[in-house]
Amino acid sequence: EEWKDRGAAVMVRQEVDENGNTVQRIQKKGVRDFQFKGTLGEGSYSTVHLATDKQTGRDYAIKVLDKRHIIKENKVKYVTIEKDTLNRLGTHPGIVRLYYTFQDERSLYFVLDLASNGELLGLLKQYKTFNVECTRYYGAQILDAIEYMHSRNIIHRDLKPENVLLDDKMHVKITDFGTAKILSPPAPRQNGGPSDNPGQMMDGMNVEDRANSFVGTAEYVSPELLVHKSACKASDLWAFGCIIYQLLTGRPPFKAANEYLTFQKIVGLEYEFPRGFPPVARDLVERLLVLDPTKRLTIENIRNHEFFANMRWGTDLWREAPPRLA
Ligand code: ADE
Repeated sequence: EEWKDRGAAVMVRQEVDENGNTVQRIQKKGVRDFQFKGTLGEGSYSTVHLATDKQTGRDYAIKVLDKRHIIKENKVKYVTIEKDTLNRLGTHPGIVRLYYTFQDERSLYFVLDLASNGELLGLLKQYKTFNVECTRYYGAQILDAIEYMHSRNIIHRDLKPENVLLDDKMHVKITDFGTAKILSPPAPRQNGGPSDNPGQMMDGMNVEDRANSFVGTAEYVSPELLVHKSACKASDLWAFGCIIYQLLTGRPPFKAANEYLTFQKIVGLEYEFPRGFPPVARDLVERLLVLDPTKRLTIENIRNHEFFANMRWGTDLWREAPPRLA
């Protein structure tokens, strides 16, 4: 019952009925509508397959989740969150889109945008570090995707180069919304006027239950999550600062022998810039890796930062060809 698909995508099929009239029948897509062609990746609870829609010839990435395993390991909540957030996100060029969901006795299936060039982490490992131009290009697309998620009141909470995929045009596609947070929409204002919203700086602050508070990947976790067990939109911008640093240096700013030591470095803001780190990028990162989430740059501030000078934001961003990697 809890897997029941509500509002799932369907396809319309033209058929001839028993009286010879052409009728349109609505039918849900299922496993048999796709040809499975191999594995793209494996997670702890899922496998992602390359698959082709037999009717259209279009390629997708299909995430297959094992129901028994998910129930046994108590991960039903994460699967539900992933589906709900992807459905709420709809269509944005920088976010993996969910086209259909279906199930059989054994598995759940999420039909997703194919990102044929894999993880940004893989590309970074291949090139060791990116130059400023490449970092600007990928950084700008990641930021645009974050802005869209936040406009839909969704915090990703686990942004990192593994969760940034690249499509056939080398455009960014953010994935893995299993640990995202859907913020309840803000209460409607009673009297209007800009002065009666003193809580605005705390926009999106969300104190979670201790028991089920989520901690993302150690190296990208924000200090407020570690100290207050609360994540907010600015927590994604902390991770964004970590990613910019990593693209330029090849490693995340906070890294230690184990998670505990990594957390200690994060809450102590213990990190260093290597020699030769570009000064303008350093200024951006220093204004993102700020312990107090309310004092971090906003998305608007980041777009206007000198690091992104002359960047063509908006739809142009998604028409640009990638710079030569270096
Ligand atoms: N691995 C995980 N998700 C993927 C996707 N959407 N496209 C390609 N590879 C993936």
